[in-house]
Amino acid sequence: MFSKSLIRQFALTIHRRQLHDKAHPRILITGGCGQLGVPLAKRLRQLYGTENVVLSDIVRPSDELLRQGTYRYADVMDVKQVQELLVNNQIDWLIHLSALLSAVGERDVPLAMKLNIEGTHNILELARKYKCRLFIPSTIGAFGPESPRNPTPDFCIQRPRTIYGVSKVHAELLGEYFFHRYGVDFRCLRFPGIISADTKPGGGTTDYAIEIFHEALKAGAYKCYLRGNTRLPMMWIDDCIQSIVDIMEAPDSKLKQRTYNVSAMSFTPDELTKAIQKYKPNFKISYQPDDRQKIADSWPEVFDDHNAREHWKWNPKVDLDGLVQRMFEYLEKHKNF
Ligand SMILES: NC(=O)c1ccc[n+]([C@@H]2O[C@H](COP(=O)([O-])OP(=O)(O)OC[C@H]3O[C@@H](n4cnc5c(N)ncnc54)[C@H](O)[C@@H]3O)[C@@H](O)[C@H]2O)c1
Repeated sequence: MFSKSLIRQFALTIHRRQLHDKAHPRILITGGCGQLGVPLAKRLRQLYGTENVVLSDIVRPSDELLRQGTYRYADVMDVKQVQELLVNNQIDWLIHLSALLSAVGERDVPLAMKLNIEGTHNILELARKYKCRLFIPSTIGAFGPESPRNPTPDFCIQRPRTIYGVSKVHAELLGEYFFHRYGVDFRCLRFPGIISADTKPGGGTTDYAIEIFHEALKAGAYKCYLRGNTRLPMMWIDDCIQSIVDIMEAPDSKLKQRTYNVSAMSFTPDELTKAIQKYKPNFKISYQPDDRQKIADSWPEVFDDHNAREHWKWNPKVDLDGLVQRMFEYLEKHKNF
């Protein structure tokens, strides 16, 4: 019924597919419709093949996101939903992004506890059961007022004062415990504020550094909820995505610890304003600090990430001027403000 050449071609396709599947990890991202998940899925699909990356979340995805590859509904508080995805897709790498961020977490502590703590328990158990390499991001918010703030090293006292920070210290410690106790290949990076142009921030304390660009283009002015001299570590989104790829690809022998600080730059709203005024000389900023000021005042000002740079060659590319240039280029081109 089928010609020999057709059968040969079919066999070759299957063979290539098997080779491909073996060469690349199969990846599940939870909470993937947020600021980090969307660009991360795009990059991982470029690197490992569209068919090897499953994006999941509890929100309705955009048409564009659906066109980019497989999307599945998965609530991380329902262990069976995530389990089913892991099994059916033979997942090797689990990237757990679902979380309530710092400012929104303070507004709904019970939900933050459920999502950030119980949700993480579910994910850790599944990574153990199915032997997945597990990535969970942590944050500068995992430090507190008693931590050294300039610079903040990988290992120091961590007594955060937000439920977000407490839940992230919990994830760091439990992930490391699962590594030592059960051999779970847990990998964790503490991120600073992440700045992106094409995805919206999820309600963190560093969001001002994104909103300011939209308002600079829309209104020529911005009212900042932090004081002008509030220094915080920040990173451009492409560097953040690259750091996840680098830590996930790093051979075990390079990892001398399971949780690393990563940073790229540190600036204050005053300094960001000066950098913006190079492009928009008439831009004006005013200050009206709110409840987020207290959070920012307990966070690192400068993040010491020399271990990441030494152990697995972390090397961010974008500085403050590069960030400002990229934001304006993107927002003006796409009229996305
Ligand atoms: N964005 C930053 O500046 C930053 C900095 C440090 C660390 N991080 C960490 O990176 C991760 C991703 O951050 P983000 O900025 O993309 O956050 P985000 O708020 O933009 O996205 C989080 C996603 O989680 C989803 N979610 C909520 N409840 C869920 C549930 N029950 N089950 C499954 N998904 C659920 C949301 O729908 C959302 O799409 C978080 O863990 C965050 O703590 C982010």
